[in-house]
Amino acid sequence: DGPSVAIVGATGAVGQEFLRVISSRDFPYRSIRLLASERSAGKRLSFEDREYTVQDLAAPGAFDGVDIALFSAGGGVSRAYAPAAVASGAVVVDNSSAFRMDPAVPLVIPEVNPEAMENIRLGKGAIVANPNCSTIICLMAATPLHRHAKVLRMVVSTYQAASGAGAAAMEELKLQTQEVLAGKAPTCNIFSQQYAFNIFSHNAPILENGYNEEEMKMVKETRKIWNDKDVKITATCIRVPVMRAHAESVNLQFEKPLDEDSAREILRAAPGVTIIDDRASNHFPTPLEVIGHDISFQAHEHILYLDFSFFIHAKTFSPLDQWIIIECSRCYYL
Ligand code: A2P
Repeated sequence: DGPSVAIVGATGAVGQEFLRVISSRDFPYRSIRLLASERSAGKRLSFEDREYTVQDLAAPGAFDGVDIALFSAGGGVSRAYAPAAVASGAVVVDNSSAFRMDPAVPLVIPEVNPEAMENIRLGKGAIVANPNCSTIICLMAATPLHRHAKVLRMVVSTYQAASGAGAAAMEELKLQTQEVLAGKAPTCNIFSQQYAFNIFSHNAPILENGYNEEEMKMVKETRKIWNDKDVKITATCIRVPVMRAHAESVNLQFEKPLDEDSAREILRAAPGVTIIDDRASNHFPTPLEVIGHDISFQAHEHILYLDFSFFIHAKTFSPLDQWIIIECSRCYYL
């Protein structure tokens, strides 16, 4: 009998994804507890042939007996409730940005730096943070290359889907698409501007240096995960009207030479990464192809695309579906 697991934000897009991943990977849980705000408390949700009642996160004893608490209800909720979960002995895996840059909290991508959590033990309360979605998918492919040839400079552009902004953003994209096609003014609740048939700079707040918060997360989190404060990184994060699956273009400059075949070999051996490379017919995976018609089964798969003209299909533990288009364009000539 495995650990008892609590999902914080169980009614949200990521919470639902946590459940799908637990199921599709046959995670050996002993029990599951679904937590959300008092708005959803009492709601019935089914999971693996059982009915569960959503419980109020703020109720006393919400974390009693919980071994692992998966948090994805926003940074404010993590800051407010993760300490209580830790105090009751749970290992918190936090999907928000609340603790990512805390030096005492390991920032972990399982395929990339599992060693960062080697001191975490079930039964002893602790927080483990997972990085921002854009950082995860970028580093899945960039890290194996970095370990081989050392990245000096990384230029990233993202093409981010609605799913990263939650279930309500996906609904907004659907609604706006219908409205625009019907000649109506689009309803803008989640984003401040029209999303359907448009692209715009990521909706994260703009910081003093002119980058938005999403872009700076990629910079800071990569430096922490690689334990390299000197690596030069610049990111441009853009929302595109795609329902699920982020894409990224990543241009890397290495310290040591790295040729295309070696990069292929390294990535072929990288955990969770598959290269899909059909140059002859100019056919590479698209978000729709990877996600398939039943997005629920494939939602945690990603596509990586390298400008050497090979594409990578990656599966990670990350809770949201993302794509990545990594462009690794002849970096050694930069
Ligand atoms: P609820 O359904 O009760 O509002 P998404 O990212 O798809 O918008 O989902 C956000 C998730 O976080 C939902 O499960 C939501 O629960 C939960 N959540 C938001 N605010 C709170 C809060 N103050 N306390 C507990 N859960 C919250």
